[in-house]
Amino acid sequence: MKKVLIEMLICPLCLPEEHRLRETLLKHTPDDIVEGDLRCEYCRKTYPIREGIAFLDPNHSEEGLAKNRYETAPLLSAYLWSHYGDLLQDELATDAYRAWADLMQPHANASLDTGSAMGRFSFEMAQKCDFVVGIDNSVSFIRTSRDLMIHRGANFELPEEGRLMRQERFSFPEDWKTDNIEFVVGDAQAIPFRSGLFSSVSSLNVVDKVPKPLTHLIEINRIARTRNAQLLFSDPFSWSAEVADPESWLGGTPDGTFSGWGRENIIALLEGKRGAFAPTWQIDRYGHVWWKIRTHSNHFELIRSCFIKAFR
Ligand SMILES: C[S@@+](CC[C@H](N)C(=O)[O-])C[C@H]1O[C@@H](n2cnc3c(N)ncnc32)[C@H](O)[C@@H]1O
Repeated sequence: MKKVLIEMLICPLCLPEEHRLRETLLKHTPDDIVEGDLRCEYCRKTYPIREGIAFLDPNHSEEGLAKNRYETAPLLSAYLWSHYGDLLQDELATDAYRAWADLMQPHANASLDTGSAMGRFSFEMAQKCDFVVGIDNSVSFIRTSRDLMIHRGANFELPEEGRLMRQERFSFPEDWKTDNIEFVVGDAQAIPFRSGLFSSVSSLNVVDKVPKPLTHLIEINRIARTRNAQLLFSDPFSWSAEVADPESWLGGTPDGTFSGWGRENIIALLEGKRGAFAPTWQIDRYGHVWWKIRTHSNHFELIRSCFIKAFR
């Protein structure tokens, strides 16, 4: 983990109180912590840093890892293709991440990408601002993103049919900056960063994948700067009772607090019409981006992800 993050971090378990974390360095270089611990002096929780990966999800457990579908090899391969299929020159790939990135204005200071998966949007933002943090609760996704950050490319296996696999390799374009980025394991519902820190925040295809969607939105609002900030939200609103209790959905129900359409409800939240967000956001644009996930050579998921671009 890059040492510049230390000043930015707080204990996610103590939220809404914000307590700094104290570092113990066991193995480090001038800029990076390879092995060490981050400790909250207030609640006494210790967050390890192992092989350069900071584990800042307060609910991280071996049992949770075993149940998380985003830790599995098929999902890893599917998301590598989804994020970097265009760099493989695959004609079936989409330009979704470029399209989302084009919605963002270049800016000074830092950007946070929640649910960063394989990091493509984070790498796109690294070309547009001073520093980017990607946060995801999948350890294998964060490990792969950090490997990409270091090696600027990857070899991986793409499923063709059944157990038939194809070896693939992609490299980042030479002009991509990768030294202004870090990826950490964390929960998008208890973000381990100080309030008001980030000049841009993104939540792409995450809100319907977390048990507490409103808490996730409140968190991205909290860590965004109160002025001169951009927010990019996008989601297909594939609400599922397996992920979140329908009472917690922010749309897709005929009755209840968030009855009706997810996008309208989230726009109302951002604009302060439901009280949760202050200072309120102004909606710049909304629309959709077509996004694809590949399972094998004859099976793809085509997703219409509805975006909202806002600023304040
Ligand atoms: C549908 S994928 C979208 C990934 C990426 N944002 C994109 O658009 O390609 C959802 C991502 O959210 C992550 N995720 C799910 N629950 C999370 C949580 N509570 N905290 C952080 N990340 C989470 C998953 O590991 C996965 O990478």
